[in-house]
This record gives sequence, structure tokens and C-alpha cells, in this order.
Amino acid sequence: MSQHFQFHLDHTDESTSARAGRWSTPHGVVNTPAFMPVGTLATVKGLTVDQLREAGAQMVLSNTYHLALRPGADVVAEMGGLHGFMQWDGPILTDSGGFQVFSLAKLAKLDDDGVAFRSHIDGSLLELTPQRAIDIQEKLGADCIMCLDECPPHDVPRERMLEAVTRTTRWAARCREAQTRDDQALFGIVQGGTDLGLREESAAGLLPLDFPGYAVGGLSVGESPREMYQTLDGTVPLLPADRPRYLMGVGTPRDLLEAVLRGVDLFDCVMPTRNGRNAMAFTSAGPVKMRNLKHQRDPGPLDPACDCPVCTRYSRAYLRHLFIAREMLGPILLSWHNIAFYQKLLRDLRVAIAENRAEEFRQVHLAAWGQ
Ligand code: GUN
Ligand code: ZN
Repeated sequence: MSQHFQFHLDHTDESTSARAGRWSTPHGVVNTPAFMPVGTLATVKGLTVDQLREAGAQMVLSNTYHLALRPGADVVAEMGGLHGFMQWDGPILTDSGGFQVFSLAKLAKLDDDGVAFRSHIDGSLLELTPQRAIDIQEKLGADCIMCLDECPPHDVPRERMLEAVTRTTRWAARCREAQTRDDQALFGIVQGGTDLGLREESAAGLLPLDFPGYAVGGLSVGESPREMYQTLDGTVPLLPADRPRYLMGVGTPRDLLEAVLRGVDLFDCVMPTRNGRNAMAFTSAGPVKMRNLKHQRDPGPLDPACDCPVCTRYSRAYLRHLFIAREMLGPILLSWHNIAFYQKLLRDLRVAIAENRAEEFRQVHLAAWGQ
């Protein structure tokens, strides 16, 4: 494993837990903290890989659950794995399918062996076990793969959450044993909801398995931002400082800021692309709704502080027109800008961390976004 991956911390901020580092993978180096755009079905919706690169993306995420259903892991493997199939030659991470089964599929059975479910596409009965989650992810061939985990709703009773933590630990051990490739970094996932005792128990169960990186799962699933930040306060310090820490499925620009200052290195979220498709743009002055009449005759750029290909070429009036006329270029351009916005946020944060200005960076940006 270690000849293929190296995580190097360049700097830790003097007054917060924010870190700036470099993670080298078989498909290149990722400067951290980093945001991974979501390419669920081996495509970041609406964008070519060249557009992704131009937006500053370093690494993308894809999903085991969706790809196993369609087109199937064997098809992807025959086409050269995810890298060859989608023509992204940078680092890729695949999620294990655990979370997607719980959020998308109709559960048929859940026990220590694994989870049986009905496909959200054709209703067919399928099963995901720790072994199978690793088999599929080895066929997909991402640089970073995830353990199968159980993520219950955040507000289940403590005993139910404890059961999920225990099961996630058992599954993690079986995933570790199932792994046969040494050119993929397998991450363990800490669960436990907002209960810090359970988070401790989860981390304590995973650490002996000596994963090359750790994810924090089970957040941004309906709890308040305050609860999420408090959970991070209690959870991130439990994870080894010399390995990448990945906060799954998070979040808003503010969530990213708050998590980076608490020591998180990696993120993924559908928000920039999903919101972009729905005419919502993230800008340096806060969110903007592009269908709004006030943009009808606005010749200015979407975000004057953004140097992305969208903001340097097109007017707000044009972008609004595309959405009102239901032209497909509208969702494409806003997704492109939103990804570029997230990438610039993390790039600027990396510089701020190197200069010990992380806390000032937070104050300035929260104020500018109206928070
Ligand atoms: N994506 C967002 N949250 C989670 C989680 O808790 N587990 C997994 N596997 N993926 C996620
Ligand atoms: Zn832009």
C-alpha cells in the first residue's frame, strides 16, 4: 500500500486544527483540504472531464451502488476500470454502496452478513456484503475505496445507533481482509450519529485495523449544523493526525469551512452540481437564484470575484435566459461555475492555512456570505 500512497502534512494552522497537505495516489497528487465533485454514474452530471479540470477539480467520487446496478462492475472493468471508462485520469474515490442502499433502495434484510435490497431501478433483489463491496470496488479500480458501513437516520434510539456502530466495525474488519489489491487505499468509516460516546466507540473499533485513512460518516443527514460541528469537535481528534480524514457527503461552503478548521482534509457533495442544475449559484456574496427577474438585463458576471470560464464569458442576463428558456446549457454552466467556486474556496483556504490565517478567513467569508 504505502509505496502507492503518501500523505504529507505541509502545515498545521497555529490557532485552529486546519491542515494543509499533499496526498499522493497512483493517479496523481491531491492538495488538501480538497473537495471531490460527485460523479455518481461515472459522470459529474453535465460536465466533461476537461471542464472538470478547468474548474480546478483534482479528484472525483463515484458510487459502487449505482455502477454495480448499471452498467455493472464487470462492464466497467472490461473498459479499463473507472479511469478508462469515464476518461478521468486523476484520482478517483468510490463510496462502498452502504449509504446509498440505506437512502435509495428498498431494504429487504439487514444483518451482520450484509444487506439485501431491491434495486431502485428495476426492483430486482440484490445483496451487498463486505466482501462483495470490496470485490466490486476492486473491479471499478478507484484509487481510494470505502468500507461497507451502516448509516441509520441520525435520530434513532441510542441502542439502534450502537448496533450500527458495532456492525460497521465488524464489516470494516471483513473489508480489510477481503482487500487483495495494494494500489487502492481502503478507508474505514466512523459512525455513531451525534453521540460522542458512540463516535469514540466507533473510532476505537476501527483504529486497530490500521486503515490508511478514515472517513466520518453519518453527518449532514438531518441534524443541525451546530450538532454536526460539535460532533466533528469530538470526533476528528480521535483520528490519526498523519492520515487523511474525509467527511462524507458534506456540504455547504460554510460546512466545509467549519470542518476544515476542525481538521478535515477531504469532502464530497452533490450540492454544487445539484443546486447548479436547479438554477442556484454559489457566489462570493452568498447564494444567487438565477431565475430571478432582477437578472433579466444584468450585463455583469455571475460572480465578479470568480475567474472561472463561466464568469469570465457570460452575463447574468444570458444565464437567466438559459434557465427561463429551459436550455440545457443553463444547468451545465451553473454546475461548472459552482464546482469552480468550491475549488477556489479550498484553494484559498489552503493558502490561508499556510499563512496561519484560517480563523480570519472564516470570519471574512461567513460575513461576506451573510452568515
Ligand atoms: N455518504 C454520506 N454519508 C455517508 C456515510 O455515512 N457512509 C457512506 N458510506 N457514504 C456516505
Ligand atoms: Zn465562476
